[in-house]
Amino acid sequence: MPAASWVDRVALGLAIWSLAGSAAAAEPSAERQDELIHLLRHDCGSCHGLTLKGGLGPSLLPDALGDQPAESLVAIILDGVPGRPMPPWRGLLVEDEVVWLVGRLQEGIGDAR
Ligand code: HEC
Repeated sequence: MPAASWVDRVALGLAIWSLAGSAAAAEPSAERQDELIHLLRHDCGSCHGLTLKGGLGPSLLPDALGDQPAESLVAIILDGVPGRPMPPWRGLLVEDEVVWLVGRLQEGIGDAR
């Protein structure tokens, strides 16, 4: 039926378009970004220092993290460091959010917020 195949093609096109849309939306929303920076300062900061210069945990500033592979930093944040005080954040943070945070840490978030 020619009419049906036209409809099918439009539906397929829409499905691909919406998939592409959700892949591009991997970056957290502006509101969630604010929450993540707040969490970084307050929760992560309780061990890594309010200015992230280090405390119980090591410095999270760009000169400390810049040369480390982002994937291993993401893994440490998601799963913690067994036997060490660094807790796992999986459950509170999803991977896309941690990838975003690591990007901000490696380039430096400054004192903007
Ligand atoms: C209870 C204290 C504590 C909290 C809270 C904490 N960390 Fe950590 N973190 C540590 C310690 C201690 C280490 C060092 C682990 C080790 O000995 O390898 C560490 C290691 C890390 C590392 C690896 C640094 C490196 O140079 O290898 C990253 C990245 C990190 N933490 C990010 C975070 C982030 C982001 C948060 C908040 C979402 C957070 N941490 C919250 C204690 C903490």
